[in-house]
Amino acid sequence: MSNLDDFGTLQRLIKNRRTVRSFTPDPVDDDVIAEIIDTAVWAPNHRMTEPWRFVVLRKGGERRAAIADVVYNWTLANTPNPNRGSAAAVEAKEEILNTPALVYTFALPGANPEVSEENYAAVACAVQNFMLAAHARGLAVGWSTGRTCKPAEVRETLGVDPDWKMVGCLFIGHPAVSPVTERKPEATVTKWL
Ligand SMILES: Cc1cc2nc3c(=O)[nH]c(=O)nc-3n(C[C@H](O)[C@H](O)[C@H](O)COP(=O)(O)O)c2cc1C
Repeated sequence: MSNLDDFGTLQRLIKNRRTVRSFTPDPVDDDVIAEIIDTAVWAPNHRMTEPWRFVVLRKGGERRAAIADVVYNWTLANTPNPNRGSAAAVEAKEEILNTPALVYTFALPGANPEVSEENYAAVACAVQNFMLAAHARGLAVGWSTGRTCKPAEVRETLGVDPDWKMVGCLFIGHPAVSPVTERKPEATVTKWL
């Protein structure tokens, strides 16, 4: 394949990847998630810290159910409109229980703030790799830093170190929708000097 073919393929994958949180009930095998993680970790990382950590919550597993309860309680207590709180909490819990695959991602802390920031950036690159690899496998991902990540008890329930920085919770499955989004053209975001 020529470089131009590579570029065309990569461009198509990047541009066609969309954030999705609505999935068909088709399962996602552990092997596929493992393969995607093995691909995602080929992200750039300064000082070769390899700062990414992943926690996979299997569908039907005890920890998935425990996280669903934690997020349910948090959403009930933190939804600004009390009339909406209970519906939002049920919705959050159901989404966690029903999503075919669920992966929390973390960045390890560095020895100082500069390294911690580099580590966070590296893990964000790994998450994009993750999403592109999933997309290439016919899956879609929703990267969430919302209610799924907010409760303090999430870390405890996952059994991760308190100083790991949570980068997001990834909802993964076969897409049930095909969202359309836009990007501003290059000329509006670039200053050529
Ligand atoms: C750091 C980060 C956090 C995000 N958190 C959320 C979130 O909590 N909820 C959500 O619906 N989408 C979340 N997203 C997804 C963005 O909303 C999405 O990428 C954006 O709307 C563009 O859509 P696209 O990914 O399909 O191009 C997040 C994305 C990033 C990079």
